Amino acid sequence: MNSYNITSLIKKKRDKQALEADEIAYLIRQYRRDAVPDYQMSAFLMAAYLNGMNDEEASVLTREMLHSGKVMDLSDVPGIKVDKHSTGGVGDKTSLILAPIVAACGVPVPMISGRGLGHTGGTLDKLESIPGFNVNLDLDRYVEVLRKHNLVLVGQTDEIAPADKRMYALRDVTATVESIPLIAGSIMSKKLAEGIDALVLDVKFGSGAFMKTREEALELAGRLVGIAEEFGKKTIAYLTSMEQPLGCHIGNWLEVEESIGCLNGNGPEDLMSLSHQLAGTMIYLGGKAESIEEGVERSRQAVQDGSAIRKLRDIVLEQDGSADYIDRPDDYPKAATSFQVHAGSEGYVTAMDTYRIGMAALELGAGRTSKEDEIDPHAGIILKKKIGDPVKEGETIAVCFTNNEVTTDKVHLMLQDAITINDVWKQAPELITDVVTREGVTNWTR
Ligand code: URA
Repeated sequence: MNSYNITSLIKKKRDKQALEADEIAYLIRQYRRDAVPDYQMSAFLMAAYLNGMNDEEASVLTREMLHSGKVMDLSDVPGIKVDKHSTGGVGDKTSLILAPIVAACGVPVPMISGRGLGHTGGTLDKLESIPGFNVNLDLDRYVEVLRKHNLVLVGQTDEIAPADKRMYALRDVTATVESIPLIAGSIMSKKLAEGIDALVLDVKFGSGAFMKTREEALELAGRLVGIAEEFGKKTIAYLTSMEQPLGCHIGNWLEVEESIGCLNGNGPEDLMSLSHQLAGTMIYLGGKAESIEEGVERSRQAVQDGSAIRKLRDIVLEQDGSADYIDRPDDYPKAATSFQVHAGSEGYVTAMDTYRIGMAALELGAGRTSKEDEIDPHAGIILKKKIGDPVKEGETIAVCFTNNEVTTDKVHLMLQDAITINDVWKQAPELITDVVTREGVTNWTR
C-alpha cells in the first residue's frame, strides 16, 4: 500500500474533496497502529462530519473498521444467519421478543448488542437485569451456543471492530457522532463482523430517536442498506416512529418483564405488531417463509404454541441466567420506591416528548449519564396512557420505580411536562412509515 501524509489527507477532506480508497485504508490502518494520534483523527472526523463522505468512502471506511478486528465465520453453522439492528429508542425491546421467536422458527440469530446510549436503552443492560445472565461469551462459546440453540445474545468484545470502538469514543467527545456516513460505517462494521448472511434494520425517527426527521432516517437507512448489500448481505430496513415510547414499559427489568408478557401472548398492540413484522422479515430472509407475510404468520404461531417463550428460557439458562424470573416475573424484587404521575387535566394524550421520557427514566436510575455509572435494573416507568388515549383529571398516566428517592419530584415534573393532554383527540402516529431495500423506498400503507 502507498503511504500518505496524514495532514494532507485531513486537508483534502477539509477542502471537500473525496478521498481515494487507498487513502482511507491508510488512515485507518495507521490509526490502528497508533501511528496517527487522536488529535489528527479528531480533525479528520470533524472534516468528515462537516463535509460528508460519498458512498464509496463510507464503504471503504466500513471495510477498514470491519477488518481491524475479527470477522466471525459462521459458515459451519447450518442455516441462513439473520440479525436485526435498531438505531435505538425509548422502550424499544423488540430484540428480546423477536430473537427467541426467530430462533424458534429455525433461523439462527447471532446477536451482538450494545449498551444504553444517552436517553435510549440497550439490549445488553436489559439482559443483565436477569440475575446471572452472562453477555460476555468468548467467540468459541458464541459459536457453540448459536449452534445449540439457533440463538446467542452477547456484547461486543474487544476483538470486534476495534477501530470503530476507538473512533466512536473520539466522536463522542468531539461532537461528531451525528454524521450519517460515520454512523452507517460504525453500525455496519459491527454487524458485518457477526458473521451474518442477512439483516433487518429498524431505523427510528422522532423525538425519542437520534434521527429527528423521516428524511434523515431515510438517508441513514439508504446508506445502511447500500453498505450491507455491497458486502453481500440481503437487507431490509423499516423506518419506524419514535414519537412515543414503544410498548408501555421503560427501564431494564421492566422491559424484560413486558417482553415475557409479549412472548406469553399478552403484549401491547404496537410492540407486538412491530416485533412480529421484524421477526417475520427475519424468518423470510432466513429462508423459513416464502414471503414476509408468511414469516409474520409463523412468528405469531411461535408465540401461540409456546415455542418462543421456551426458547427464551433455554437461552437464559444456557447463558447462566436464572429462569425463575422468566417463569414467574412477578417474583422479581421491586424497587424501594414507586410513585404515580397524575393527569393535570381532562382530555386526550396528544403528544409524548419521548426524549424527555427517556431522560426521566435515566434520572430514576435506568440509564447512564457517564460510562462508569451503574444501571439500576429495577428503575423505570410504566406508562398507563399513550397517544390517542382519553384521560380524566387526576387519573394515573405513569408509574415510576426507583431506588433513588432524590429524583422523585424532578421526574414527576419531567413526565407531566413530557405528556401533553389536549381537548381535541389525536390519532397515534403511524408506527411503520417506509420500507427501504436495495430496490428503493416503498411507502408503508396498510
Ligand atoms: N451506534 C453505533 O454503533 N455507532 C454510531 O455511530 C451511532 C450509533
